[in-house]
Amino acid sequence: MYQFLRPLLFSLPPETAHEFALESLRFGLGSKVLQQRFAARYARSPFGAIDCFGVQFENPIGIAAGFDKNGVVTSQLAALGFGFVEVGTTTFHPQPGNPKPRLFRLPQDKALVNRAGFNNEGTAKVVERLRNNRPSCILGMNIGKSKIVPVEEATEDYLKSFDLVHEIADYIVVNVSSPNTPNLRELQRPRVLDELLSALQKRNRELSNNQILVPLLVKIAPDLSASEIEAICDVALKLNLAGIVATNTTISRDNLKTSVTELEKIGAGGLSGAPIRKRSTEVIKTIYKFTDGKLPIIGVGGIFTAADAFEKIAAGANLVQLYTGFVYQGLTVASDINDGLAKILEQRGFNSYQEAIGVEN
Ligand code: FNR
Repeated sequence: MYQFLRPLLFSLPPETAHEFALESLRFGLGSKVLQQRFAARYARSPFGAIDCFGVQFENPIGIAAGFDKNGVVTSQLAALGFGFVEVGTTTFHPQPGNPKPRLFRLPQDKALVNRAGFNNEGTAKVVERLRNNRPSCILGMNIGKSKIVPVEEATEDYLKSFDLVHEIADYIVVNVSSPNTPNLRELQRPRVLDELLSALQKRNRELSNNQILVPLLVKIAPDLSASEIEAICDVALKLNLAGIVATNTTISRDNLKTSVTELEKIGAGGLSGAPIRKRSTEVIKTIYKFTDGKLPIIGVGGIFTAADAFEKIAAGANLVQLYTGFVYQGLTVASDINDGLAKILEQRGFNSYQEAIGVEN
C-alpha cells in the first residue's frame, strides 16, 4: 500500500509530510483496542524477547530519536511493530528549532538531510504527556542541550532534563552528537564527556536510591576517528554506562549521487539513510572490538531491510534502530524486518538471536 502512499507523501514538502504522517498515525491508530491488536500481531519477536542492559525488549527493532520528538505517537509506533521507541531529543527549555525548510529528501541516495535543531516542546511537557500514556513497548528518552545554554553550562542543563525523564524512561540516551546545535559535538571530547556523564550517573544513583539504575547510554557521531571512539568507550566502561548508540547523522557528503549543486542548495545539516550505513557499521565494529563485546550497542544508520539489520547485529549491535528507512519503506518496515531477520537467523543456523551478535567482527 505504501507503494501508492509514498508518491503522495513525497509530493509534499518533507516536514509537511512528516507532520501529516504523525497526525495520520495519531488519529488512524488512536484506538487502544486497535493498538493492542496490532501490537500483538506485529510486535512479537519471532525469536523471543531480548534482554539488553537488564531491560526486556519484545523485539530488537526500534524507531530512532527525532521521529517522535514530543512523544505523541509512541503507542502507535509500538502497534506498527517497533520493539522500542526513542522519544526526543528533548531539551530542558522548549525551543522552535532552526528556520524552515530544515528537512530535505535525497531520493537518488535514499537519504535525508536535516538541520532541525532540536525543535521540541521541552522535556517537562513531553514527560507529562508520556506519564499516563506509556507505549506497550520499551520507552527510551533522548536528551540534549538547550540552544540558549552555553556549552560550558551543558551539564546543569542536561541534569534538569535527566531529573524529569528518570521517572518514566526505560533507558536514557545522552545526545552529544547532533550536528545541528552549535558546539554540541565538542561534548564528545573524552574529558568533557567524562565530566558530563559522571554527573548524570551520580544523579542516576541518587534518584534510584542506589538500587537498580536507569540504563544510561551515550549517542555518538559517525564522524569520529577510531581513537576518538575508543576514548569514548573508555569513559563509558569506567562510568558503567549501559551502552552506546551508534550512530547519529553525518556531516560528510562523500559518495552521493545527488549533484553538488543540489547539495549546495540544501546546505548544512546531518545526512542520514543509505549513505551512512557502512560507516555506522564500521563504528559498531570498532566499539565491539575495543570493548570485547562487553558494552551493549544500539546500531543505527541506513537500515532499510532485514539484511541491513543483520549487518549491524553481526557487527556487534545488540539492538537496532531506524528513522530514514521508515520514511522510504513505510509503515510495515519494523514487522518486515522482524520477519526477515528471523529467516536470516534460521538460514544461517543460529539457535538464538544472541548468538548472532558480533559474529562478523
Ligand atoms: C534525526 N536524528 C536524531 N537523533 C537524535 O539523537 N536526536 C534527534 O533529535 C534527531 N533528530 C533527527 C531528525 C531527522 C529528520 C532525522 C532524519 C534524524 C538521527 C537519527 O536518530 C539517526 O541516528 C540517524 O538518522 C541515522 O539513522 P537512519 O535515519 O539512517 O536510520
